[in-house]
Amino acid sequence: MTAPIPRPGILDIAPYVPGKSSAEGHAKPIKLSSNESALGPSPRALAAYAKAAAEIHRYPDGACEALRAAIGKRFGLDPARIVCGAGSDEIIALLTKAYAGPGDEVLFTEHGFLMYPLAALAAGATPVKAPERGLRTDVDALLAKAGPKTRLCFVANPNNPTGTYIPASELQRLRDGLPAHTLLVVDAAYAEYVSRNDYGDGAELVGARDDTVMTRTFSKIFALGGMRLGWCYAPPGVIDVLNRVRGPFNVSAPAQAAGIAALEDLAFADRSRAHNDIWLPWLTRELRGLGLEAPDSVGNFVLVRFPGGEHSAAAANAHLARDGIIPRAVAAYGLAEHLRITIGTEDEMRAVVTSLKRFLAP
Ligand SMILES: Cc1ncc(COP(=O)(O)O)c(C=O)c1O
Repeated sequence: MTAPIPRPGILDIAPYVPGKSSAEGHAKPIKLSSNESALGPSPRALAAYAKAAAEIHRYPDGACEALRAAIGKRFGLDPARIVCGAGSDEIIALLTKAYAGPGDEVLFTEHGFLMYPLAALAAGATPVKAPERGLRTDVDALLAKAGPKTRLCFVANPNNPTGTYIPASELQRLRDGLPAHTLLVVDAAYAEYVSRNDYGDGAELVGARDDTVMTRTFSKIFALGGMRLGWCYAPPGVIDVLNRVRGPFNVSAPAQAAGIAALEDLAFADRSRAHNDIWLPWLTRELRGLGLEAPDSVGNFVLVRFPGGEHSAAAANAHLARDGIIPRAVAAYGLAEHLRITIGTEDEMRAVVTSLKRFLAP
């Protein structure tokens, strides 16, 4: 007897390996491996979550009406053009499943977020990588790889794990150069951290055309990674497609309640951004001061390159782990000599630098 087998390609998928959360011998390690918020969730979100507990025998609002209204209000967007999901991961997977299949190509950048190739393979489509230039999205390289089979193009802006971004004008140039049959997905998971004048999260493109989507998340500045909550802003045709393929109750009631409360707590998000504005440049400067290379990041994390040999990224990872600090190894992103470090609290940032100073000491 043979067991049922999945579609061709499914067993070629290497399952996503999340950032580690434990370090041997350390009961309370410093977890800097998943770009979680340094300040934790808003007390208002926690209170809304606790209140929702009494009603968990009820199905959630499958349309996420109140949550979409709150998102629309906060970001100045039409709620009818928003779909919510169990994390933006779910939106990425749904878009890929709906728009690509066997024989189709899904395009993304060399060090792009790992969910893009995973979603492509799960849909039976072919992942295609375009080289980056200086760890940054290269629009010309993406356009050179786009062709008749390209059904989707994912660009994380800013990108994880590099932390770099391209300006709105470059996003526009990408959209204008892509074939009309290619859906451009601008993944703006870290948009709330970015304060550059020339930055674009893709919303303007979405508003003006019918071939571009912007995805966002509550897992980063809104600090609700454990709730699984994300959303997208999309043209009506894509909204219609997503509402057909998503599960009818894909976002839990406590997640909807916590999300609304997190959006309302403007002061808390401001504090998180202000914290990042201090400690992102601080950590970048300190790492460079140690002789390590780190690109300018606009997210809540820094990608750092180690020189190799006895000072390899793997050795640094092991050294940090002995000190109870967990960074993210990024070899799966084609960055074997780098580690990604999330911006944590002041004490956590100082602990990282102290540990790396000892690691690099002659
Ligand atoms: C670029 C990017 N997109 C999407 C996500 C997924 O976020 P979530 O599924 O938690 O909304 C992440 C998470 O790290 C990310 O870095």
